[in-house]
Amino acid sequence: MAIDILNIITIYTPVGFINYVIPKMTMTRVADVKEISIGSGKEINIKGNRIALFRTNNDYYAIEALCRHQDGSLAPGKIDGEVVECPLHSWHYNIRTGELLDFLQDVKLNTYRVEIRNGDIYVDV
Ligand code: FES
Repeated sequence: MAIDILNIITIYTPVGFINYVIPKMTMTRVADVKEISIGSGKEINIKGNRIALFRTNNDYYAIEALCRHQDGSLAPGKIDGEVVECPLHSWHYNIRTGELLDFLQDVKLNTYRVEIRNGDIYVDV
């Protein structure tokens, strides 16, 4: 299930109020919070985008699922704080920022906003 959110900003000007519509975001329900235990991940697919969803002690994170080395899925990777280790050849990524932490500079995976609502996990894609 997806929820479309329109952000509308109203600004008062000398000629009256003007509404600006900010680009639409789509929050997609991807799982129940009980489906992902602390310190683990799950791969999801939203509109053809493979996304790795992780749960840490403190939060949920969503990043591109495919490692930039050889396209291994990061979802089953080992989590240590905000770092995931690719299960294939041990490259490390920050799951909050998407940055690759070793081997190459300026490599960054896309990250996605995650919200929890009434026990359901939503991702903004
Ligand atoms: S595929 Fe991820 S480190 Fe090789």
